[in-house]
Formats: sequence, structure tokens, C-alpha cells
Amino acid sequence: MKNLIDITDLSMEEIEDLIKVAKNIMQEPDKYSEKCKHKKLATLFFEPSTRTRLSFESAMMELGGNVLGFSEASSSSTAKGESVSDTIRTVGCYSDIIAMRHPKEGAPLVASIKSIVPIINAGDGGHNHPTQTLTDLLTISCEKNRLNDLTIGLCGDLKFGRTIHSLITAMARYKNIKFILISPDELKIPEYIKEEILEKNNMEYIETNDIEEYMDKLDILYMTRVQKERFFNEEDYLRLKDYYILNKSKLSNAKKDLCIMHPLPRVNEISTEVDDDPRACYFKQVSYGKFIRMALILKLLDIK
Ligand code: NCD
Repeated sequence: MKNLIDITDLSMEEIEDLIKVAKNIMQEPDKYSEKCKHKKLATLFFEPSTRTRLSFESAMMELGGNVLGFSEASSSSTAKGESVSDTIRTVGCYSDIIAMRHPKEGAPLVASIKSIVPIINAGDGGHNHPTQTLTDLLTISCEKNRLNDLTIGLCGDLKFGRTIHSLITAMARYKNIKFILISPDELKIPEYIKEEILEKNNMEYIETNDIEEYMDKLDILYMTRVQKERFFNEEDYLRLKDYYILNKSKLSNAKKDLCIMHPLPRVNEISTEVDDDPRACYFKQVSYGKFIRMALILKLLDIK
């Protein structure tokens, strides 16, 4: 049985296969509409979500399967004091596969040790978010036609943004990737990502506070929201939340084929005037998320 806890649980070949299957699903969705008949996906969301939970659920429905679960810890037995391990053992009796989001880093890993069905990490605290990364890789592959030779600007909350941590980890395996890490000093990329991923893999990266400084060099600009729920103090959040607001004028030097991404939800970091720009890919990114999750469910359930 295979789980997806960290993006490196998948080899590069497996990721390539998932992208291939997702592209095939986009072209021939009918071929897949009964692949998961009689299968059930449980979504256990101990933390809020719109896209991740609903895209998992809609992915399973489009495969002909069923879904069950909860969208807040307060409506589950967690509120009575049940441990994650016991919840997982229970839900494994009702479902074939589980997607789980939890505020504690490592909770899905603990769950996977106890689970009798595959576990998918749908986000654990400020740590990892591998299915967002699969979504991002499919988006990049469709929009840029390559996963190598890219200069990628990552902007916003690089400290607590789990999508950033997983994306850097994934991209470290591709060739000629350069990162421009754009954040306020307080929200810089954690040291462990620098040491264990960027430096270990001899990756080229530059840290800056200025979103415009390297704009003309970027193939991808990946914006993120300041992660309010991970802050210890409201004052810091209020001071940092509007640090970057991408608008048309900041894009004036950008490449014509820049791909602007965002895992969403957006708060203020991309002005709505950018939404009509052909380079804005963040809503397309949402729809890619469903197809790659369909491919992932098939893989983890071992359905050809
Ligand atoms: C992200 C997350 O939950 O980490 N959202 C998502 O899954 N699409 C990003 C965020 O919440 O800022």
C-alpha cells in the first residue's frame, strides 16, 4: 500500500505518469467515469479548506466513486478527545482511501502508520502540501510545456507557506531551476529548506524583499497569502499581510509568457485587475487540481 505524505514519496517517473494520466483524463473524461465505482474516499479536514477538499471530492465523483467525511474537527469525535490514530482506524473501516488535512505537522504521517487504507496528506500545518504541488506541476507542464529550465519567483509567506515548501522540494529534482525567493525578512524560507533542499542540491537561489527587482527574469511567479493562522501575534500579521500586492504596474517589465500562479485563497496579494491578464493562471490551476487528484486516486487504489 502506498501513501502520499511528502512529495518525494513519488519518484520523478511516477510524477510524470500522474501528469500523463491527468492530461489523458482532461481529453477523454468519459473513459474514467466508472473507474472507482463502489470505492469510497473519506476527506478528513481538521482545518478549513475550499479547493483541496472539494477538488478531492469532485475528483472521486468524476471517477464514479463516493465520498464521505467531515470538514471541521469540531463536528468529529476529535471534539470528544479521540486521537488521530483512533479516528483513522475507524474511518479505514468505512472507506478505501483517506485525504487528510491537519493543523499539526506530521499528523498525516502518524495516521499513515496506523491506517489500513492509503492516506493522502492534504496539508499538515506549515509543513507540506504534496497534492497542491502535483497541481502546480501539472499547471507548469501544461502552461510552460516543460518542468526544466525555469526561473521561478516565490513570493509572500515563505516561512509558513506549506505549498512553497513542497514545491521547492519537488522542483529540486528538475534541471536548471532557479528560485527568486521574495519575502519580508520575517517570512523568509526556513533554514531547514535552505540547508536540506536548496544547498544540498546546489540550487541557484536569490533572496530579496523586492517583488519588482527580478520580475523581467521570471518564467513563473508564484504568489502566496500570509498564513494568518500560523502567527502567534495578530499585530505581526496585520503589519505583514499587505506587504505585497501584485498589480498591473508591477508586471510592466514581466515576460510576455510569464505564468502567474497562486494556490489560493487570495486575500490581497493579487489585485483583481490582474485576473484578466492572459498570464494569470491561478484559476486554471484550480481546475488542474481536480484532474491530477483523479490520477492520484487511481494510482493509490492501484486501478489501471
Ligand atoms: C493552500 C493551503 O491550504 O496551504 N491552499 C490550498 O490548499 N489551495 C494555501 C493557503 O491556504 O494559503
